[in-house]
Amino acid sequence: MDKNFLNDFPILRSKMNRHQIAYLDNGATTQKPESVVRSICGYYGGCNANPHRGVYELSVRATKIYEDARRKVAKFINARPKEIIFTKNATESLNLVAYSYGLNNLRGGDEILITIAEHHSNLVPWQRVAQATGTKLNYIYLNADGNLSQADIDKKLSNRTKILAVTQISNVLGLVNDVKKLAAQAHEVGAVVVVDGAQSVPHIPVDVQNLDADFLAFSGHKMLSPMGIGILYGKRKILEEMPPFLSGGDMIEYVEEQATTYAELPQKFEAGTQNVGGAAGLSAAIDYLQGVGFDNIERIENDLTTYTISELKKLPYVELYGCDAPNKVGIVTFNIKDVHPHDVATILDAEGVAIRAGHHCAQPLMKFLGQNATCRASFYFYNTRRDVERLIEAVQKVRGIMHIA
Ligand SMILES: Cc1ncc(COP(=O)(O)O)c(C=O)c1O
Repeated sequence: MDKNFLNDFPILRSKMNRHQIAYLDNGATTQKPESVVRSICGYYGGCNANPHRGVYELSVRATKIYEDARRKVAKFINARPKEIIFTKNATESLNLVAYSYGLNNLRGGDEILITIAEHHSNLVPWQRVAQATGTKLNYIYLNADGNLSQADIDKKLSNRTKILAVTQISNVLGLVNDVKKLAAQAHEVGAVVVVDGAQSVPHIPVDVQNLDADFLAFSGHKMLSPMGIGILYGKRKILEEMPPFLSGGDMIEYVEEQATTYAELPQKFEAGTQNVGGAAGLSAAIDYLQGVGFDNIERIENDLTTYTISELKKLPYVELYGCDAPNKVGIVTFNIKDVHPHDVATILDAEGVAIRAGHHCAQPLMKFLGQNATCRASFYFYNTRRDVERLIEAVQKVRGIMHIA
């Protein structure tokens, strides 16, 4: 019998349009347990000061909270603390790699390889870097089941490929890419591997050594933490050779009128006052996730995903995307024939069911799927089969409300 997680997440006991909320938009952001909220309040209530700068006790406490969080994140993904850079979110982490590594290491004739299933955060920065450096941006397309085409990978990965940037789990299809295998293949041709872990780190165990990823980007808010704290992991040797991305206070060693030397890792990439409250929340979130355990997280999400797909498949007017592949985690994407996804989401909202509708920041993927928009239900371990039943009951009302026979 699973723990009743609702006891730890007061917001999940609250109402939306007079119904208890069925929160199925975890791909966008997750809810926060009381322990995370307490840790943020605890920081601001008892330890708030600018870290790294003051010699007084409060500042030392803030520094400890911040650096303890870094150590915890490092252990969580099997990295070293110096290889963990705190950012604002996964988007900033990916921009950091694109601008600091990409801009400085690419030249005409080189290629960047990404997949058509990337979130705009792992696509637009590469487009801009490709334009600025005169390099080519190549795409890996998908098979009919939604998985990456191995034939396309074999065709497009060559010694011209200098960067392979790939999501570990697609935020639209929920399909898990075999990043370890991709990284091995990319390293054989000398490419650097950038992994977008925004949808994977919160849901499956991720070990950067095992994957042999050169970079991994993810966001705290998709894994129970507050918004405003993100993480970039990078291999130490590569990070050491990269120039700073943002510059200003805290990232320097010595500043003269015309030149500056930079701080060591990770401070070189952490300019300005950092989000210590966010780091405190992230620390508590990792403790909470480890208490639940990834075995349980995966088991619960698999059950909810399979149950949702089997129930939606019973409805002849529902079209599902990427739902026939086994390597799927916690995300179900669908459309109801003849109804715009925004109308679907609005009708579900009236029933207290929160889903996402739109292009999910993946317009090239939408175009590839032949859709302008879709509906997406995305789960976390605190969801229940009752949430799924509420989703299905609401979906069954949609066509009637829209007066479609
Ligand atoms: C796969 C993927 N990458 C990157 C991001 C960007 O995350 P953030 O908005 O937290 O920077 C998202 C957010 O939905 C995502 O799903």
